[in-house]
Amino acid sequence: MSVLRSTLAGFGGYLPERVMTNDDLAKIVDTTDDWIVGRTGIHRRHIAADDQATSDLAFEAAKAALTSAGADAAELDMIVLATSTPDETFPATATKVQHMLGMTRGAAFDIQAVCTGFIFALATADNFIKAGQAESVLVIGAETFSRLLDWTDRSTCVLFGDGAGAVLLRAGEGEGTSKDRGILANSLHSDGSKHDLLYADGGPSTTQSAGVVKMEGRQVFKQAVTKLADVVGETLEGTGLAMPDIQWLVPHQANRRILDGTAKKLGMAEEKVVITVGDHANTSAASVPLALSTAVADGRIKPGDLIMMEAMGAGMTWGACLARM
Ligand code: ACO
Repeated sequence: MSVLRSTLAGFGGYLPERVMTNDDLAKIVDTTDDWIVGRTGIHRRHIAADDQATSDLAFEAAKAALTSAGADAAELDMIVLATSTPDETFPATATKVQHMLGMTRGAAFDIQAVCTGFIFALATADNFIKAGQAESVLVIGAETFSRLLDWTDRSTCVLFGDGAGAVLLRAGEGEGTSKDRGILANSLHSDGSKHDLLYADGGPSTTQSAGVVKMEGRQVFKQAVTKLADVVGETLEGTGLAMPDIQWLVPHQANRRILDGTAKKLGMAEEKVVITVGDHANTSAASVPLALSTAVADGRIKPGDLIMMEAMGAGMTWGACLARM
């Protein structure tokens, strides 16, 4: 039986030039390189220049993804951009990127699921492709999370960084089996009762400002490992595939201890997990496509490899996406 699949055709990432090390942070708040590395595995993060907006980062990642696929913006039917740090309250940052790319048709819109945003965006794009409503979709995760941080709060400001990643999805024919290339399964979840564990304390309809990140770190940590391992298992259900079939786990890069805890729970060897958190910190919706584009560019992830992407973030939201490259 022939089925429509969303194949992963191009990959791009962008990190702003400015690098902030843990020692740089120790000059701003009461912290140390040892504490940050020991608790999070983070060594450094990239911070957007004052004149760089989320759309600028997204545009660079989008161009890189199109170039890697040998594609032109003229082929795009849709842009789905995941972010919690849009340029403006409205319109969608995706429409700015659409204009920057010179794309004059189709649709562009934002998705808001915080650190799980890219997984939500991928699943949304995949459904448009499977429904036959789009053939070529650029899926982007882009953030300037540094703009949402309280730089006097050492428990949160050390964790995040800025960046963007993008994947070009193209419609392809599959046999309807797990050997097909492209997205094979998705699972998405949210639980609004966990709002208070992680949120930004502002917004247009409440404070008329963007607010800053507020987090119950220990509670978030507890939720993360269990829910991430569960959603990976759920995504494999019914595919005929199991954990040993997966060549690469491409997780949201929140912190090293969550990555290690989840991989251990899944029985996944460390060398099969793509880890970029040390150099990028937590770039929220950008972290999965940044990790993916890094591992594709350095030759670790190859055509035909089975990959599992997963993420968890505020909302709470969590999800996973199984794909064959
Ligand atoms: N430097 C030095 N000390 C610090 C720092 C810092 N940057 N931050 C907190 N501390 C101190 C605290 O003040 C506290 O001191 P006290 O004992 O004197 O009161 C002490 O360290 C312990 O604080 P905890 O918050 O209990 O530290 P914990 O071991 O839980 O580590 C951390 C904190 C790293 C945030 C951890 O809870 C964690 O990794 N949580 C997950 C959060 C996360 O990754 N969020 C990202 C967004 S969600 C997502 O992407 C999945």
